[in-house]
Amino acid sequence: MNTYNLFKNIAFKLDPELIHEFSMKSFGLFPRALSGLFATEDFRQTHQIEVAGLKWSSPVGLAAGLDKNAAAIDFFSRLPFGAIEVGTVTPKAQEGNPKPRLFRLVEQESLLNRMGFNNHGMNAVLDNITSLEPASRPGCLGVNLGKNKITPADKAAIDYQVLYKKFCDVADYMVINVSSPNTPGLRDLQEESALAEIFDALADVRQFKNVPLFLKVAPDLPDQGLDACVSIAKKYKLAGLIATNTTIIPDIGVGGVSGQLLKQKSKRVRSYLLDRLRETPRIELIGVGGVASFDDVWEFWREGGRAMQVYTGFIYKGPGLLVDISKSIDVVLKKTNANDLAELLSDHKKLPADWRM
Ligand SMILES: Cc1cc2nc3c(=O)[nH]c(=O)nc-3n(C[C@H](O)[C@H](O)[C@H](O)COP(=O)(O)O)c2cc1C
Repeated sequence: MNTYNLFKNIAFKLDPELIHEFSMKSFGLFPRALSGLFATEDFRQTHQIEVAGLKWSSPVGLAAGLDKNAAAIDFFSRLPFGAIEVGTVTPKAQEGNPKPRLFRLVEQESLLNRMGFNNHGMNAVLDNITSLEPASRPGCLGVNLGKNKITPADKAAIDYQVLYKKFCDVADYMVINVSSPNTPGLRDLQEESALAEIFDALADVRQFKNVPLFLKVAPDLPDQGLDACVSIAKKYKLAGLIATNTTIIPDIGVGGVSGQLLKQKSKRVRSYLLDRLRETPRIELIGVGGVASFDDVWEFWREGGRAMQVYTGFIYKGPGLLVDISKSIDVVLKKTNANDLAELLSDHKKLPADWRM
């Protein structure tokens, strides 16, 4: 049994948020020792990809929400993640929703959460990032931004503006998050006019310091809503979209569902968006939602996508998931005689249906 499975055997008997807090503290304190215990895979030069002009050391990054406070970047950047996204961070610290608010749905390899952007606020998160030794910084660091719960919808744009200014000197990319189901009214900001207000408010600061900016979308948007996100991405010259956040399944409970129960919805949204973005290849689509194996990555590549992120699959499978993906990429590169991933992904139509060939 590998180290992660041993850890999981104990961890899954305990309260999910308690073990999460404990793990994050431990990862923050002992990044080197603990990352060495969990994964021993080196980064491969040949697995690098370019995402919106940024270098990802591998095609699968860490999704937002796991390291909300940027407390364990040093740990996560030692695992073979292509990029690390921290947050969601809000301007002021906030506690989030009452506990319990994080639940495992083990048989379905899924999670239900209604955390509600619990985080230590932008100053504490910035301190955590700036206090990192240069060698502990990941190759690509994303910061995911959200509005405070107490900020009224008509002032939301100001929160995003303040956050953008705060992180623009330390983030390699930033994400506007208006797609969490756990902050009342947040998803209403996905309306085209509300999005326009946010990106208008960012126009001046972006002119001064242009950090690649993404918009993270919900899997529950109708096609019209997805079209609005695409049109905003084009109009405001976003680096791309991230699809998707968690989904609402009322029969399961209040909150957002992630993992295998989200996968089909998320895949549908990704396919739809990839189709819509085909004539503007400059706009990247980062895929997230239900990724649990290299098969999922391959399917996304075959549709023309490249970079993905993972959260729930990582909780269930641990760093071994990244190692498996890395080994599968090696197999594919060998079988296709491609020198590296950039070459392999240069024409997605040429990728065979089954990567095992
Ligand atoms: C406990 C938990 C907390 C999350 N918190 C955030 C968050 O703060 N910001 C965000 O953009 N997404 C958040 N997410 C969503 C994930 O980043 C991801 O989009 C979603 O879970 C789908 O990916 P997955 O199926 O690999 O988990 C959270 C997910 C989980 C399970």
